[in-house]
Amino acid sequence: MKISALAGCVLLLAIMGCSHLPGAPKPGVEVPRPDAIMNFADLYHQNCAGCHGNHGMNGAAFDLANSTYLNWIDDATLRKIIADGETDVQMPAFGRSAGGFLTDAQIDALIHGMRTEWPAADEKPQGQTPPPYTTALKGDVARGEQVYQSACARCHRESTQSITSPTYLSLVNDQTLRTLIIAGRPDIGQPDWEADIPGHPLTDQQVTDVVAWLASLRTMTPGQPYAQPH
Ligand code: HEC
Ligand code: HEC
Repeated sequence: MKISALAGCVLLLAIMGCSHLPGAPKPGVEVPRPDAIMNFADLYHQNCAGCHGNHGMNGAAFDLANSTYLNWIDDATLRKIIADGETDVQMPAFGRSAGGFLTDAQIDALIHGMRTEWPAADEKPQGQTPPPYTTALKGDVARGEQVYQSACARCHRESTQSITSPTYLSLVNDQTLRTLIIAGRPDIGQPDWEADIPGHPLTDQQVTDVVAWLASLRTMTPGQPYAQPH
């Protein structure tokens, strides 16, 4: 019985040809090895678009095609984030050295593509120099609350998304907050550091202070509606 089933199978294969097996490569079409894919569109679509959105916009995670962002961040920082991932947020590590699947050359191809294939990169003329990506300053929580009141509250009091809620804050690390405040997110209407208070770009100290204040609102038990008894 077993043998005749097998024989039937072999016969069927002989008739159909192996190429018709589901998943089998079509004859004449060469499937590249995963580490040989160097095309930006394929690399981005397969690895990043699900979180960062098609073409780097309107995803759940940060809009990478943001022109202010691409003018602000340097290649070395991008390479490190993509290779090593980010702690406290769902940004995976893609580099081989960190257990990921992308080679250094593929990570470079992604960065090159983000800078050249998304038109956004040259759109915005460079105005003022933004505060640096990482800061040497120390944030002050009390001053940060004042920055929030003067630069953020007018929009965020009415916003559907409460960025001061511990539940939201558990989703983002401090660098994500800094990035969102400095580079903005044009795809969802979050202004950049120059536009919070028209005519008064935020300083490095102000950004650092407001991040310190937001960070101070995080709790150990996000999502629990009632404060823990002391
Ligand atoms: C599973 C979801 C997910 C995937 C897949 C993913 N990312 Fe991310 N990424 C995140 C999250 C979450 C953050 C933190 C910032 C945020 O909340 O938007 C982040 C942050 C980043 C940042 C840093 C933003 C900053 O603050 O400067 C870069 C750059 C980045 N991702 C690039 C990529 C690239 C390139 C790929 C594809 C190789 C990728 N990501 C794939 C979820 C993802
Ligand atoms: C001109 C109005 C406006 C101002 C000023 C503003 N925001 Fe926002 N912000 C928005 C909008 C619109 C969104 C989109 C989400 C929403 O609230 O619906 C947003 C979203 C955000 C997000 C969440 C982004 C995400 O990935 O979900 C953060 C964090 C944030 N703002 C921080 C700030 C901080 C901090 C300030 C002050 C330094 C500020 N914003 C000033 C309008 C504003």
